[in-house]
Amino acid sequence: MNRIALVLCILITGISAAQTGQKADSLISLMSLEEKVYMVTGTGMDIPGVPENSEPIQATVGTTKDKVPGAAGTSYSIERLGIPAVVFADGPAGIRIDPKRDEAPDQSFYATAFPTAITISSSWNTELVKKVGMAFGIEGKHYGIDFLLAPALNIHRNPLGGRNFEYYSEDPLLSGTIAGYFVKGVQSQGIGATLKHFVANNSETNRTALNTVVSKRALREIYLKGFRVAMKIEQPWAVMSSYNKINGIYASENTALLIDLLRNEWNFSGFVMTDWFGGRDPIQQMAAGNDLLMPGTPQQNSAILEAVKSGVLSEEILDRNIRNILNQYFKTPSFNGSKPTNTPPLEQHKGIARQAATEGMVLLKNMNTLPIQNGTKIALFGNTSYATISGGTGSGDVNKAYMVSIEEGLENAGFAVNRELAQEYTSYIKSEEQNMPPKEFWFAPDRLIREMPLTQEDINRMAENNDMGIYTLGRTSGEFQDRNIEGDYLITPKEKELITSLAEAFHSRSKKFVVILNIGGVMETQSWKSIPDAILLAWQPGQEGGNSIADLLSGAVTPSGKLPVTFPVSLEDVPSSENFPGTVLDPNAPKPENPMMAQESREIYKEDIYIGYRYFDTFREEVSYPFGYGLSYTQFDYQDISIRKNGDTINIDLTISNTGTYQGKEVVQVYVKSPEADSRGPLKELEAFTKTTLLQPGGSQDITLSIPIDELGYFDARENSWKTDEGTYSVLICTDVNTIIHEKSFELPSMIILKTKDILSPEKPLETLKK
Ligand code: BGC
Repeated sequence: MNRIALVLCILITGISAAQTGQKADSLISLMSLEEKVYMVTGTGMDIPGVPENSEPIQATVGTTKDKVPGAAGTSYSIERLGIPAVVFADGPAGIRIDPKRDEAPDQSFYATAFPTAITISSSWNTELVKKVGMAFGIEGKHYGIDFLLAPALNIHRNPLGGRNFEYYSEDPLLSGTIAGYFVKGVQSQGIGATLKHFVANNSETNRTALNTVVSKRALREIYLKGFRVAMKIEQPWAVMSSYNKINGIYASENTALLIDLLRNEWNFSGFVMTDWFGGRDPIQQMAAGNDLLMPGTPQQNSAILEAVKSGVLSEEILDRNIRNILNQYFKTPSFNGSKPTNTPPLEQHKGIARQAATEGMVLLKNMNTLPIQNGTKIALFGNTSYATISGGTGSGDVNKAYMVSIEEGLENAGFAVNRELAQEYTSYIKSEEQNMPPKEFWFAPDRLIREMPLTQEDINRMAENNDMGIYTLGRTSGEFQDRNIEGDYLITPKEKELITSLAEAFHSRSKKFVVILNIGGVMETQSWKSIPDAILLAWQPGQEGGNSIADLLSGAVTPSGKLPVTFPVSLEDVPSSENFPGTVLDPNAPKPENPMMAQESREIYKEDIYIGYRYFDTFREEVSYPFGYGLSYTQFDYQDISIRKNGDTINIDLTISNTGTYQGKEVVQVYVKSPEADSRGPLKELEAFTKTTLLQPGGSQDITLSIPIDELGYFDARENSWKTDEGTYSVLICTDVNTIIHEKSFELPSMIILKTKDILSPEKPLETLKK
């Protein structure tokens, strides 16, 4: 048997994990230099309107027409060595592929549009998240996908972040835990998950030429932490490096980030891919441990080939990167010969999407209004009640078969939605959509049509003839652009006027008026939240959104979502607003004509670790709705709370009882205040959480939460060490970050938990916000 045949034979017979390294090495030993170069780059992709290989291309959402139409990328196959092409597809809300194929005009290839990441994290339900991940894995496998390009877990640093809908939270423990369980679910189905975007990629403006300047402490405690937490729960097969520079060096070219930290400190065993067209220098990317360049360009291939030939790049580095890649590729469906069926169980996944959205919606206000009786006559206002927004745009978009609007959901649940008003809205929306000018760029975020104008007479008539009014306020956003203050973050004067007159008309007839928020990120609520009787934050809830909303309004399900992010009183209160989304280095430089080209810019994270509630809580600033907040239709009692130190963990035992009249679930939140919290900050941090099972009225559940002592440290940037302070730690059981219901304490000595390498420092000393 010749060597190739031998290796192929090993490949086919399958071998243990311990032998995969050897298996990779055998294959590598058979590769020509050219073949090695193909292993570290993808096959490229088509970008509408951009001639192939025009350089330098920046970030975009394109498609590969290769193996699975519409998938984001594909690797090269090397047939003589039995190496098949491997397929990569977005994304965080569902499998993004083309729903139609020329070669199969009668067939469709839709994927489930699950609720957006921000909705999923608002459920605080790790088992549910795992179930959602499994559904992604199942659909991916049926469609021939080997790697899902999700979860995305960048921190919500500022409410204007254009991709916050794709990310989980302002808190790294919540983000990382949700991401970890999602990865568990996806990978349980035999396809790989990709943690992205590594790291500190928190704004979209100029994202490919942005230098993120951030202290070592904030990097460690906030931006890196979620990735570490997720990896401890489940090793992802891949990590995607981010577009931005971190303290002067592109993430994909950053040896300290990818080798010293990710490989050596965290023992990451998967491979690293770039974000699409990310970084500048393919040679440095190879050297820095960015194993795979996606989607791949011929220019990158030539540069790498030349560099190895001329001795600038050692061939061993290529071998190392290929080994990392192959060790994961071996586990993929493509390698294991499993064929796509193209018939995923979409029917079954409807229920999962619906449950996940229902659990992720947050009841912000309820003045004896919800739930409402079946058969209630509802006057339903607002364009997005009829054209309900499933999710955001860009690579986080999903080609779904349908969207259940709020109108449809309410009708399905037996409510009487006023037909006259419904017809007016639907024909208005149709004609406005037809008149909408085409998007400036094919990938630009969706634009919403103007809110349908209503006369006072219309409003009065509707208030007279219906039992209650519901108004839905919608917002969209997407990749490539951050959100605007006017029109996105703020309520518009017209919207506020409408809410006010609707509330007046219904209230003057002793009827209730409810607002539903169909939004992808935080918006201003302080100036108008007193007006309606109830506010339901439905987020962007995926294709079953309307049914999920109806489940909550009817009381079929009791709301149990909690905010994964703070709603501030005003945007100026958020400290990162001072420098978000960074400044262009040369303000006189002409703006590039190509919208995909970015301008060199810098974003200084002056607020340091004071992101979200860590700022508002520590600096005692008032908020509109605090982190962790969310109402229920029932009440819960916390009893028998005790804490014990058990080896390396602090365990908290308690019993939760449902003392109200509706069945429901409760999220238990545990924060810890360290002895030096007052001087060093933050005042307290989320250290553990869980969600109860469905508790019937009178039902109860015993719960144990564990906090590893190693997680209680802070990062001492001078000594490059994770440390604990000596003294009394307070364990705060809360229903949101501002509402402490029980306090216990324990003592710890001062300890060095881990000494790290001195890496990832800002180029110059950084002035940051201090307690
Ligand atoms: C996005 C990634 C995405 C990739 C492939 C990029 O523009 O930033 O999140 O996975 O495109 O579509």
